[in-house]
Amino acid sequence: MDIQEWEQRHTDAFYNVKKSLPYLEGMFVAYNSNIDAIKHLTDEDLCRLMELFDEVDIQKRVETYPREINEPLDFMARLLISMREGKAAEIPTHTSDIHEWLKAHLGFDYARMGGQAGIISNLLARLELKKVVAYIPWLSEEQADYFAASDNLLHPKLEDGKVVLKPPKEAFKPGIESKVNWIFEYSRGLEVTCNGNNFTVPRDNRLIISSRPKWIRLDMDREIYEQLESLYPIDGAMLSGYQMIKEEYEDGSTYKDYVSHSVKVIEKLKALNPELRIHVELTSIQNRVIRKAILTEIVARHVHSLGLDTVEVANALNVLGHEELSYSVIRKEENGITSLYHGAVQLLKDLSLERVHVHSLGFYICILAKGHPLTLKEHRDALLFSSTLAGAKALTGDIENLDEAAAGLEVPVSGKGIEDLENFKLYCVGKRLCTPEEFEFGYLYGADHNAVIIPSKVVEKPKSTVGIGDTISAGAFAAMLATMKQK
Ligand code: GLC
Repeated sequence: MDIQEWEQRHTDAFYNVKKSLPYLEGMFVAYNSNIDAIKHLTDEDLCRLMELFDEVDIQKRVETYPREINEPLDFMARLLISMREGKAAEIPTHTSDIHEWLKAHLGFDYARMGGQAGIISNLLARLELKKVVAYIPWLSEEQADYFAASDNLLHPKLEDGKVVLKPPKEAFKPGIESKVNWIFEYSRGLEVTCNGNNFTVPRDNRLIISSRPKWIRLDMDREIYEQLESLYPIDGAMLSGYQMIKEEYEDGSTYKDYVSHSVKVIEKLKALNPELRIHVELTSIQNRVIRKAILTEIVARHVHSLGLDTVEVANALNVLGHEELSYSVIRKEENGITSLYHGAVQLLKDLSLERVHVHSLGFYICILAKGHPLTLKEHRDALLFSSTLAGAKALTGDIENLDEAAAGLEVPVSGKGIEDLENFKLYCVGKRLCTPEEFEFGYLYGADHNAVIIPSKVVEKPKSTVGIGDTISAGAFAAMLATMKQK
């Protein structure tokens, strides 16, 4: 693959999409937003933390692989696991004890908008979409401050029984507490020793400790649901946060109640505009029952598009009964990308989707159901646009407007990404998914699907890695919808 060619394609795509974006009337974004307390872990921080524990205890806890944080040792164990693999993970905690402990023993560097829906709303507003309607069921006064203060970003509010759209700062629910997540970022190359075992952190990534206060409910206020049409015109919806659903609640309700409410919202969104497209952005979901329910009951048959990373593809395949494929995606040997491709195709089929967008470090794969109204070139432009946004986000930490997003064009296309795709080419040509020429364009033609693959822009030393996946998915989805509207 010719790297210069891909640089040029990024530039052309950026300006093509920029011209299409004004064709979008509006995007609905729900449900999760929180405040991220971000701490970049240095060598010293890590030493200080390790000293608080007995290394034998840490090692033992690592082996139990805690899926919730109940005490500081659970946190330490999951941090080491995440660093050892260089893999992002998000682990829930249901008490505020760990929050207090972290404040006392570590502290954070800075706070900013967190949660997929929060990050996506701000991004889309700054890309100057005509209208972005965010909906956060637990919007607190403090949280509202983290939303971009621009006229195109609105939130529904109930006034005298009527739903109206207001800037988030005028739409919060008084008296609500804020949800704060801790983000521990670490850099590639950090040396870690625990109980005689050494490893070097293989890539920049982070561990998230997600606070799940008891009162949090992934649901839509009744009045808003009943007057959903007041949010329109809307061309698309980007939904996320379903990982917040719990198996059982103290009031006797269960995940089934919240799953069925979620599906009703999706059905109503589509009923109000049959052309509307829905994207779900996945994240790490520790609870397997919930992970499966989200995929098979909310996503399958109801939504059009799914966005996720490599680890999430493996985790999704695992609960859908494709264990072997799941392991080969995670093992990432030389045929890792081939497994990833098959995994993504499997998700498209199992979940009856129109589109599956996988973002990996250095390249993206987008699987498309046959018959999609856009050409592969148009889909490719959407992906390339999002790769430029990801570059800008990693470079600056946040994208303030469309002009600033163009800074991402300066970020080079990943050499490693090109190399990975070169290896994949042999497989694709061998299996007649494409000719060598078609592969150079990034186009694959399967029997029951098509696909687009692109090498992506990667910042050598990112300012932050949180929210890059959200940026990629939102950028590409918005670009795709805008192009569909333009046609
Ligand atoms: C999840 C986390 C949130 C983080 C976001 C980034 O939503 O809960 O803390 O900001 O992912 O993608």
